[in-house]
Amino acid sequence: MAVTLPSIRPQVSEAPRKITVLGSTGSIGRNTVDLIERNPEAFEIGALTAHRNVAVLIEQARRLQPSVAVVADESCYGELKDGLAGTGVDVAAGREALIEAAGRPVDLVMAAIVGAAGLAPTLAAIRGGATIALANKETLVCAGAFMVSEVERHGATLLPVDSEHNAIFQVLESHQPDAVERVILTASGGPFRQFSKEEMTGVTPQQAVAHPNWDMGAKISVDSATMMNKGLELIEAHHLFGLPEARIDILVHPQSIIHSMVAYVDGSVLAQLGQPDMRTPIAYALAWPARMAAPVERLDLASIGQSCFEAPDPVRFPALRLARWALSMGGCAPTVLNAANEVAVQGFLDGANTFLGIAEIVERVLESIPEAALGNLDDVLAVDREARRLADRLVKSG
Ligand SMILES: NC(=O)c1ccc[n+]([C@@H]2O[C@H](COP(=O)([O-])OP(=O)(O)OC[C@H]3O[C@@H](n4cnc5c(N)ncnc54)[C@H](OP(=O)(O)O)[C@@H]3O)[C@@H](O)[C@H]2O)c1
Repeated sequence: MAVTLPSIRPQVSEAPRKITVLGSTGSIGRNTVDLIERNPEAFEIGALTAHRNVAVLIEQARRLQPSVAVVADESCYGELKDGLAGTGVDVAAGREALIEAAGRPVDLVMAAIVGAAGLAPTLAAIRGGATIALANKETLVCAGAFMVSEVERHGATLLPVDSEHNAIFQVLESHQPDAVERVILTASGGPFRQFSKEEMTGVTPQQAVAHPNWDMGAKISVDSATMMNKGLELIEAHHLFGLPEARIDILVHPQSIIHSMVAYVDGSVLAQLGQPDMRTPIAYALAWPARMAAPVERLDLASIGQSCFEAPDPVRFPALRLARWALSMGGCAPTVLNAANEVAVQGFLDGANTFLGIAEIVERVLESIPEAALGNLDDVLAVDREARRLADRLVKSG
């Protein structure tokens, strides 16, 4: 079992918890802000950060009064400064400012930036020994072994926010790791679960981002439609729970009521259930090791009536096969998978490549980059850059 997840529960303090929200303007970030605003006595705010969405960042900072508001895109600095003039909130811009803000001491950092862009700020928080509520799965996919070793070295704590990993965390008997036989990640199957490969040929970004159960940012919605999201989660689970690829199953469950399960050696299977609303796992992380109220619709199994399950189809959803392949290859392969996928998903959203082209591009980039061990962060970043360069060329060549 990986040592990243805490097995000893600290005392719950009555004092307000100071929280930094990296990516506060996104889907996870806004849900986090929503929960914080409903519990004003329980929280105070360290940093709020965005990429370019200054309008939302200004609104949030005016309401929540963080110590600092940071926009990663330096060209947005003037607008942010003007928008927060007279509020007493410090403002900053640029990548270095983002990393500095992420490393400031707080009780909990919500890591909700999308993609590998979140790696450096999340590492800054880890190096400060923080408790990190990790939504940003791509960081663990592209630099998992390195991140886990940094977590151990700096005494940081990772709390999974991804609903599947949060579910496993809730039902995992971490004091007896040998009793865990396997974990089962559930998957909705996405909007194209019942599409044939031919039907997937012409799907549009608009169709791909319309997830049947979850309301999420564009990138993760496309990942759910290709099922690369479940592939990324497989790699994330490997690093969080220290399990080999062969002991992590994927099960399609279109209702998204069972968020994942742990199977034990005595035949017991423990699951966490709830409505598909990210405010439940976010609330769990914000209040951990206690629980806090979340304004989510309550689960009424009688009105749901039926739940179904099926095996995933790696032929129509080749991203699952590619992710298993990358995890079993190890070394730089997961970094390549993640970088190529980020570029191909953006290409699809921009209309440059097709939906089915996403997995094709990822596969070609995986085949092109030779196996290599990743010794340090520079190695990770070099592989990430090379994979993006190759993927970008494939996107542009149509
Ligand atoms: N949404 C969900 O339900 C869900 C569920 C499980 C896991 N996750 C994971 O949580 C993470 C966030 O997902 P999301 O759906 O919330 O994404 P999102 O809605 O696209 O929000 C992404 C956030 O990251 C910021 N950002 C983007 N690029 C950045 C950059 N280069 N530098 C600094 N900040 C940057 C965005 O700022 P701007 O707004 O200024 O662009 C925004 O605040 C992803 O890793 C995703 O896989 C999400």
